[in-house]
Amino acid sequence: MNNIIKLENIKKYFYKKEMFFSPRAKTVKAVDDVSFCVEKGTTFGLVGGSGSGKTTIAKLIVGILKPDSGNIEIGGTCDIVFQDPFSSLNPRMRVEDIIGESLLIKGTKKTERRAKVENVLKLVRMDGSKCLRKYPHQFSGGERQRIGIARALVRQPDILILDEPVSSLDVSIQAGILNLLKDLQESMHLTYVFVSHDLRVIEFMSDIVGIMKDGRLLEVSPKDEIYRSPKSPYTKELLGSIPEF
Ligand SMILES: Nc1ncnc2c1ncn2[C@@H]1O[C@H](COP(=O)(O)OP(=O)(O)OP(=O)(O)O)[C@@H](O)[C@H]1O
Ligand SMILES: [Mg+2]
Repeated sequence: MNNIIKLENIKKYFYKKEMFFSPRAKTVKAVDDVSFCVEKGTTFGLVGGSGSGKTTIAKLIVGILKPDSGNIEIGGTCDIVFQDPFSSLNPRMRVEDIIGESLLIKGTKKTERRAKVENVLKLVRMDGSKCLRKYPHQFSGGERQRIGIARALVRQPDILILDEPVSSLDVSIQAGILNLLKDLQESMHLTYVFVSHDLRVIEFMSDIVGIMKDGRLLEVSPKDEIYRSPKSPYTKELLGSIPEF
């Protein structure tokens, strides 16, 4: 097996004061002894209820957060696409500068930058000549998420962490983005960690599925097994909440 991501016994706790003046802080076990691997070129779907620790795991993998204990091994470059493209794109920047920002930081010259930005816009099926000079508010939710994906792709990552990338979008637009992500994965040999609370979306996207609850990874299985013969009672409960299952 060729694992590109390996998490071993990862813990991340937060300490929150219940109230401003309360002397004691409450411990939130956001990620509590979580281990899993992701094989290169596959999609690991992470599903669970709100507050179960999914985003914390996403941030730990991409390096925005550091674990309290445990070991994370990443065998490639990694980027993240967030849920809400509106708040993750700077409203005062033009699309060309949003997508090209990381290239600018690297010192890439303007003409080369533009060519690269146009190229990734083509990859996410947008017309560069029409949108380079526009601002995020001039696009639909689906287009904004395509821009968010383009911004991540321009850095040529090996791994994309997708944290609820379609949850803020209308159902009619979700399928287009999901299909785009699948095509990009194939053509660019990407590895995905796909976070969602939606079991249908997870089923469509994933090879392996991990079920999270209260910071713990209850079950990790190939997709077909999770949906055909779930092991943990919580997984059964989750599947039972989808009417057609
Ligand atoms: N920076 C932080 N400071 C304090 N507590 C935090 C912080 N980030 C997350 N938490 C807490 O850690 C727990 C896990 O949060 P996380 O955002 O990882 O959950 P999630 O599964 O992504 O939820 P959702 O589906 O709502 O996005 C929650 O109880 C949350 O309140
Ligand atoms: Mg989250």
